[in-house]
Order: sequence, then structure tokens, then C-alpha cells
Amino acid sequence: MVVRPSKMIILGINAYHANSSAAIVVDGRLLAAVEEERLNRVKYAAGLPARAIQYCLDQAGAKLSEVDHIAVPRNPWARLGTKLRFAMRMPRFALDRARVMRRFAGVKADLASAFEMPVENIRAQFHRIEHHTAHLASTYFVSPFENSAVLSADGLGDFASCMWALGEGPKMHPLGEVRFPHSLGMYYTALTQYIGFWKFGDEYKVMGLAAYGEPEFLEEFRRIVHADGPLSFHLGLEYFTHQSQGADMSWREANRTPVLGRLFSQYLEKRLGPARKEGEPLEQRHRNIAASMQAALEEVLAAHWRALAKKTNQKSLCLAGGVAFNCLANGKIFDRSPFERVYVQPAAGDAGLSVGAAFAVNHQVLGRPREFVMDHAAWGPEFSRPDIVQAIDTFHGQGDDASITDVDEKTLLETTAKHLANGKIVGWFQGRVEWGPRALGQRSILADPRRPEMKDILNRRIKHREIFRPFAPSILEEATGEFFEKTHPSPFMTFAYNVRPEKRSVIPAPTHVDGTARLQTVSRKTNPLYWKLLRAFGDQTGVPVLLNTSFNDNEPIVCRPEEALDCFRRTQMDVLVMGNFILEKKPTTASQEESADNLAKRAK
Ligand SMILES: [Fe+2]
Repeated sequence: MVVRPSKMIILGINAYHANSSAAIVVDGRLLAAVEEERLNRVKYAAGLPARAIQYCLDQAGAKLSEVDHIAVPRNPWARLGTKLRFAMRMPRFALDRARVMRRFAGVKADLASAFEMPVENIRAQFHRIEHHTAHLASTYFVSPFENSAVLSADGLGDFASCMWALGEGPKMHPLGEVRFPHSLGMYYTALTQYIGFWKFGDEYKVMGLAAYGEPEFLEEFRRIVHADGPLSFHLGLEYFTHQSQGADMSWREANRTPVLGRLFSQYLEKRLGPARKEGEPLEQRHRNIAASMQAALEEVLAAHWRALAKKTNQKSLCLAGGVAFNCLANGKIFDRSPFERVYVQPAAGDAGLSVGAAFAVNHQVLGRPREFVMDHAAWGPEFSRPDIVQAIDTFHGQGDDASITDVDEKTLLETTAKHLANGKIVGWFQGRVEWGPRALGQRSILADPRRPEMKDILNRRIKHREIFRPFAPSILEEATGEFFEKTHPSPFMTFAYNVRPEKRSVIPAPTHVDGTARLQTVSRKTNPLYWKLLRAFGDQTGVPVLLNTSFNDNEPIVCRPEEALDCFRRTQMDVLVMGNFILEKKPTTASQEESADNLAKRAK
């Protein structure tokens, strides 16, 4: 009889918190990771990620009862003294904490209930990994660096907002932290609300807006947030409410998008003028406020990076936490920092905590060696050719008259590149769903970056986003230096670099008004099909760059073929490339008029 060596299965779960997710690590290697929102179709979904857990178990070929360790990125006992002192001042906070503790205490029972099994059948050992430790682990332990400085910064987690460490092989040594109420994430979210964007995750909008303003209010913002020593920053608390009224960052119902309470104070309005109400016009003052808040954040972060480099004597840095999504700050500070290499995991925010908690157990609890690098983001569900055929059949049976062709890879690439070069908007659905919020060539909507009008066309026909938000480019890794002033890889769209001045008119659609672009460098090794498409487009046009935006329309990024087909049908996308199938719509009157318009403009 052959005895199969038993596997070590670790399940990481980010539950009862926005961006709930699951990840599974088997014998030290990540097999799968996915956000619950991709599966239950609720943006930023909180609650227990039962679908994501099931998917991860399926990928490992395991049942929940066979999992050895379950890691949850929250430790109610962390910083207990600080929590208790705050709770004594604010009974509402104490109640809220008690509710959170009850929820986490009940995670085993919730799992048993969700998976319809007796609770005693879950034999896994449970681990509570402190929030920022999980953030730090989520980036360092999957980074390509043997040793590195590691930095986590977010809104709040386990009563801290920032933590830094030194990573050495399979160990991470914590070096310091910043506790509630001082928080760069809260700062950014509060000011995002002040500028009139209240939805969870709206911070990106303000980052895009910042490029349209001047930092006119920087002096005031240096009172709102400031570095006050090496590895230390403070908020001007009079500008905020979270320290006096609690950070009401919750969701009203389980499995629903989180809702945020107001975080800025009347004093902020007294100093900067009345807050912009949602829907009111955006004025230059708002743009200048956005520019000022971004500039102040960059000052604090730059000082932090410098001090961390000095303290750790490292040339590599790993970033995590929601603040690590500030690609503008990452790109700018990187240029001026002592670090030579920076790694940001694609799910740098709280979704990434499931990966972090699992790897924290793998290395810090079990003492296992490091043997995994996350060098691509394709960790979610994929669909077979029969799945795609079935979805297309159903779609066609519903009376859609798009033409459908089934082609080999060479024809697929050449035809798709030709459609793109001809100005068509192409849905690109290939392989496993991306991990993290960025579409990176698995579930993307692609377009020609050479056309200045493409941004408006995409917004009008599909994305319906604010006009000040930039679109991002994907570029062949080898061509990065030809188009950008910096060549350090950015495989997960977490850095904005300056586009070379002479190339800004070559790729105007994804070049932001400040001359930067949030690029994705695409490697032949880790993303071969998408790399080949970029090369095919480059062969036809001389520009190995594509505009790449997420495959969705005000919904979570599509996951299943049916969702891609639905988005294709609902929007004015021209072509859908799914597996080896190319679906092409008959040109609409609107798109014909648009092309005629553009031809006329170009002729002038
Ligand atoms: Fe966090």
C-alpha cells in the first residue's frame, strides 16, 4: 500500500470585515486566494466568506474537516490596555468591541453551520493573528526578498494603524507601531468624505483628483497630519471625530457593502470651508484640497520610509495595508528613497489578510522555511472550455446576435490586437480571476492607449466613472524604460511612474494629467498569454501598451463567463474574447457615429 505523505493545510480567512476573503496554503505554497465579493457579487462584501472558503478547499482537494490550521487576522487581546482605556471613555466603543469579540469567538461554530457539519468535526487548530502582523506577513512572506524592511499602514486594525518590522528569512521582527487614533488611513478617508465621496473605497477617486490641483493648503494639512520624529506621525485630532465618537466603520447587514460614519469634525470645516456635499460641483478649491492632502501624506510617508531604511539598513521594502494602494505616493517616494526594490502584494488591503494570516502561521507559528513567491495575481477561479461553451450557448439562445468564432491562439492574438488597433473596446476573459482589486489581464477591458478620446469613450460606453479618474496602462516588461522614467517592475499596478515626456502623446489615454500612469508591467514568465497579446499589439502598432481597466460596470469584477457575457450585453463593449472564442457585436449606430466623429477629428 502506498502511503501518501500527509499535507499541511492552512486556511486563512478574513471574516466579519470589509473585503472578506479566503486563502489556502498547502505545504508552504499558496494554492488559491479569492475575495468573497467575486463570488457573492456584493462589492467589498463582509461577513463569513463561505464561498471563498469552499473554492479554496476545492483547489486543495480537501474538506474543511481535513484542514490543519485556520488563521484569522484579528486578535481581540492585542493592545488590550489601550482598548480598555478607550472603552471606559466611550461605552459605545466597548459595546462594538464586545460584538466583534463575540463574532470572532464564534467563528468555529459559524464555519460548522455554513458547511453543515458538526462543530467537533473541525479539527483544525485556530490562530488569531494580530491585524498588522497579518498585513506584514501578507507581503513579506510572499515577496522575492530574503531580507527586507516591512511596513503596514491602514485605517485601523486591532487598535493600531501602522506597524513596521524587519524580515529576515522565515522570521519577522516587529520594530514599532502607531496606535489609534493616529492613522494615515483615517486621515485619507476623512478628507475623502470631506471632498464629498462617502462610499467605501472612494479614496482612489481623490487620489486621481489630486493631480488636477495645487497643494495650496499644504501648511494647513501639515497641522492635520505631520511626522514628528523618526518613525512617528500624529494627526491634529481636532480635525477628526473618530477619537471622540469612535470609528464607525461597519456594515449594516452581514454580507453587505460596508458603510462609513463621518470621520471629519466641524473644526475641519471651519478651517477649510464647508464640506462638499455629494453631487455638488467639484470646484478648484476641492482639487487643491485633494492635492494638499496627497502632498501631506507623501511627506509623512517619505519620512517614514527614510527612517525605516536607516533603522533596518535594508535596500528592499515590502508594503501592505490600504495606504499601500496609494500608487502615486509609492511611485514618487520610491524615486527619492534609499530603497532599491519595493514589493507590494496585489491584495495589499484587508483582503490580503487571509494570505497574511495563513503565512504567519506557516512561518512564525510552525517555523517552516520560505518556499513561495507571489509573482502573479492569478489565484482565483477559472473556467473550462465546456463551461465557456455552455455560457455562450445560453447567451446565444437568449437572442443575442453577436458573431462567434472559435480560433487557435495565434489567430486569437492577431485578431484581438487588430480589433484593439481599430479602436474597438475588448473584454478579455482568460484563466484564473485576479487576486486583489486590479484587473491584470485575466478579467480586463482593453482598449487602444494611443487614442486621446478613448478615456471618454470608455466612460461613456462602459465604465461611467468620474472624468477625473485615470485609466491605467499595461506594458511589455521589456519596454518599460522606453515609455517610463523608471523601470522597476510594477506587476500589480501599485506604482505610478512618470511617462517619458516624449511618449505622453503616444499613449495619451492612460497618461494622467500630471504625466504619470499607474502601470502594470507584464512579464512573459508569469502572464504569458497577456504578454503575447501586448506583443501582438506592439507588432501591429509599434506601441506594446494597452489601456487596461477592470472588467465590470459598477459591480465587483466579473468572475464567471455568464457575468462577462452579461456585462458584454449590458454595455457598449464591441468585442468579448473569452478563452478561444471571439464574440463580436454588430456595430451600433452610436459606435459608427463615434468612429466617424473621431475620423473627422483626426482628419482636421
Ligand atoms: Fe487593515
